[in-house]
Amino acid sequence: MTVVIAISGSEAHARKLATGLGVELVAPELRYFPDGELYVRLPRLASDEHVVLCGSLYPAPAERFLELAMLAGTARDLGATRVGLVAPYLAFMRQDVAFHPGEGVTARYFARLVSSTVDWLVAVDPHLHRLSSLERVYTIPTAIAHAAPAIAAWVRDQVRTPVLVGPDAESEQWVAAVAAACDAPFEIFEKTRRGDREVSVSGRVRSWNGHTPVLIDDIVSTGKTMIEATRALRAAGSAPPMCVAIHAVFADALGAELAAAGAAGIVTCNTIAHASNQICVAESIAAAARTFI
Ligand code: R5P
Repeated sequence: MTVVIAISGSEAHARKLATGLGVELVAPELRYFPDGELYVRLPRLASDEHVVLCGSLYPAPAERFLELAMLAGTARDLGATRVGLVAPYLAFMRQDVAFHPGEGVTARYFARLVSSTVDWLVAVDPHLHRLSSLERVYTIPTAIAHAAPAIAAWVRDQVRTPVLVGPDAESEQWVAAVAAACDAPFEIFEKTRRGDREVSVSGRVRSWNGHTPVLIDDIVSTGKTMIEATRALRAAGSAPPMCVAIHAVFADALGAELAAAGAAGIVTCNTIAHASNQICVAESIAAAARTFI
C-alpha cells in the first residue's frame, strides 16, 4: 500500500497528490522543541507502506530538508518498504558549478543528501541550467513533472493572440513547449547576470504588434529578470506583457516595480503557495509520481 505524508507547508499539495494517486493521506505530528530541535511522530503509519513524502523545499530549504530526513527516518524505522519524495519545488539547484575559485557546488552536495535519504524523487521543472539532467547530481531514480501543459492551457484560456517570450537561453525549454501547445510564436532574449539583483536583458526585441507578450520563466526570485525583460519589451513598443513563472519564490516583493516597468501582471503555478498562484500543476505531479508506484 502507498500513503502520502506532507512536509510542513505543503499540506494542500499532499492532499491533491493523495487524491490524484487514489491513496491515503497520513498526517504527521511534526513540531519544534523550544530549543529548535524537531519532534516527529507518525502514529497512523502501518508497516510495509510505500511512503511518499510531499513538500516544496521552500521557504527555508535547510529546515524543510531536515523535516524530510526526520520523516523518512521515522517511516523507515516503522517498516516502510520504500520512501519517495515529491518536491513541487526542488531547492538548491542554482549553484550548479563553482563560478569563482573556492566556491562550493551546493547543488551537488544537496543532491547527495537527498539521494541518501529517499529512494526516488519527483520535482516540477527543476532549474536545469548548466546541468543537463537531475541524474548528473542525483544517484536515485528521478522524474520531472512538467508545468508546460498547465501553463499552455492557462495562456489559451486567458490571452488572445499571444507571443511567448523567454528572458534567457535556459527558459527556451519551457517557452518552446508552451508555444508549441498554444500554436503561438516565441522569442528568446539574452540575459546577463552580474549579481543577485543585477541583471540586464537584451537580444532581438520585436514589438509584436497585435500580439500580447507572455513572459515565461521557471523561477521568479528577486523579480529582476521579469522586470528587465518587461522593460526591454515595452521599450520596443510592445503591449504590456503578462508574466508567468513556474516557481513563486518571491525573495523580494516586486509588485510595484513590475507594474512600473509596464507589466500587465504576474501569475504563477502552485508549486510554492503564493497569492499569485493561478495555474495548478497537480495533474502533472501525480502522473510523474505514478511512475514510481
Ligand atoms: C535563472 O537562471 C532562472 O531561470 C531565473 O531566471 C532566475 O532565478 C530569476 O531570478 P530573479 O527573479 O532573481 O531575477
